[in-house]
Amino acid sequence: MSRTHSCNALRPADAGKTVTLAGWVDTKRDLGGVTFIDLRDREGVTQIVFNPGADGIQEVAQRLKTESVIQVTGVVRARTAETVNPKIGTGAVEVAAASLTVLNTCADLPFPMEDDKADKVNEDLRLEYRFLDLRRPRNLGLLKLRAQAARSIRAELDTQGFLEIETPTLFKSTPEGAREFLVPSRVNPGEFYALTQSPQQYKQMLMVAGVERYYQMARCYRDEDLRADRQPEFTQVDLEMSFIDREDMYRLIEAVLRRTWKETLGVDIPTPFPRMSYREAMDRFGIDKPDTRFGLEIRDLTDLFKGSAFKVFAAAANAEGSVVRAINAKGLADITQGELTNLETIAKAAGAKGLAFIKCEAGEWKSPIVKFFTDAEKAELKARLNIEDGDIVFFAAAPWEQASTILGRIRLESAQLLRARGRMTLRPDQYNFLWVIEFPLMLWDEEEKRYVSAHHPFTAPVVEDEPLLATDPAKVRGQHYDIVLNGVELGGGSIRIHNPAVQKRVFEDVLKIPQDLVESRFGYMLKAFSYGAPPHGGIALGFDRVVAMLAGRSSIRDILAFPKNQAGRDLMADCPGPVAPRQLRDLRIQVTEEAPKPKA
Ligand code: AMO
Ligand code: AMP
Repeated sequence: MSRTHSCNALRPADAGKTVTLAGWVDTKRDLGGVTFIDLRDREGVTQIVFNPGADGIQEVAQRLKTESVIQVTGVVRARTAETVNPKIGTGAVEVAAASLTVLNTCADLPFPMEDDKADKVNEDLRLEYRFLDLRRPRNLGLLKLRAQAARSIRAELDTQGFLEIETPTLFKSTPEGAREFLVPSRVNPGEFYALTQSPQQYKQMLMVAGVERYYQMARCYRDEDLRADRQPEFTQVDLEMSFIDREDMYRLIEAVLRRTWKETLGVDIPTPFPRMSYREAMDRFGIDKPDTRFGLEIRDLTDLFKGSAFKVFAAAANAEGSVVRAINAKGLADITQGELTNLETIAKAAGAKGLAFIKCEAGEWKSPIVKFFTDAEKAELKARLNIEDGDIVFFAAAPWEQASTILGRIRLESAQLLRARGRMTLRPDQYNFLWVIEFPLMLWDEEEKRYVSAHHPFTAPVVEDEPLLATDPAKVRGQHYDIVLNGVELGGGSIRIHNPAVQKRVFEDVLKIPQDLVESRFGYMLKAFSYGAPPHGGIALGFDRVVAMLAGRSSIRDILAFPKNQAGRDLMADCPGPVAPRQLRDLRIQVTEEAPKPKA
């Protein structure tokens, strides 16, 4: 046996036992000829004492580099009261080494392993040495948390009668979704698989097949631009149920999340979760995944500016579908010019023509537009927005959705600025779960000049709205729901279309997908639906995002064993990379442009 105990097992009651431990040299100290090593394994740390003696092991220990791997046999003894270390589980004992085997040495470390120092090291360097970065106890702890979360989710779904079923990841390319990774087929030259963006179509086929309750910890692949909460490959808690309605789904997911929070963090999250319509979320928070932990809500001022002398506002206030809206970023009047310029850039990226503001300092309103306002307008503004000294108010005059989106981003950025100034604190243990519901089924895509699905094309319309599909698709409500936590979209799903005629209408008449493409890409689904498809619905939780929230991390890279960096590269294995010409020949693929040199 290479060890008798873990490094977090020994207690004073073990004194006198001969034990063997194995692990990594965490720290090493020499005191008056005696060498102390903190030996670390996955479970914890134990202090080993090497006394000078004829056997020479103390000299060997003294020369060991940290992160070398050793095996030590010795006798457990209680530490004296003044040398007890209350910070670690084994802090009341130590092992007096009688033998030492160096199992492996460690090269010079590329960065220090202590959390406070390692956290400041460039992330790309840590990703290149991910095997070392993960070895830090805190990061191993995140993997344990992830494993526990998966256990809790599986346990709840098992209890509720779900079957875990794997579905293929080599699938067909589907229009209407995220950009896909394509996989050439060698045995079908010139043809391609696409990696699944999600098991959406397979899980619906499982419902037609009579499975009734399916789930899977599903690997999903999307060739998207990456962000802190997006990876090209990620994991969904994917599930689907037959003979259910939206209320069943809300109850199920609330039970899954309640159990997960309880078993990983010991936190009781109150259920049922509040619900908010898409319209209300946009109206109040300017986003479909509102962070409701703080206020700074958007106010509508359209009626106030109908007769305004400020032409920009008057024009918007009188135009069909346009609005004048504002938020009061309370206490942010000391915003710097640089911060203000940054807010303007953010607003413009969301389509704003400008970002009018009023700063209120020492009883005075400073603003490029206040000269246009009458005293009555000012009094009304002050009352509606509760404007006080120290505040700054931001305006957006634009179509409703755009004005809301602009102010939604300004709201989040203002909250960041207030937090950086210590004027807003968010408790780390505050979990504001929220269902966002009543989405429109379709959104108008101005670039493509056609309707696109707000969720995906399999989402069922609200039954009463079905006739509007032909006449006024924008008015059709979808049976779609998103689960949101503290401003993060944890998951989304819907009740599906199970009637082949309705599905065909959505593809062809609303989404305007050409009939032959519908046939080649979705023909099998329409066929399946004509063979007795049960009513069904489902959801997928972004498992990486769930774990990041549990861990209090803003980047899902932290809670993945081997994440890609911002440029989509695996820096440890160094990929993607070129392949041999023969491999390409076998696949009948020609690279037409010289591949760019890989970025570090
Ligand atoms: P959707 O596309 O909303 O729905 O995805 C569900 C959830 O998956 C997570 N997610 C991601 N996580 C990390 N990196 C990414 N690139 C990424 N993209 C999505 C999010 C998101 O809420 N088939 C449907 C679900 C259904 O209708 O049942 C689907 O995939 O947390
Ligand atoms: P202007 O009269 O165009 O110089 O604009 C005066 C102020 O209003 C500037 O601070 C602009 O950034 C701002 N502004 C212009 N258009 C809009 C708009 N549509 N919504 C909000 N602010 C605007």
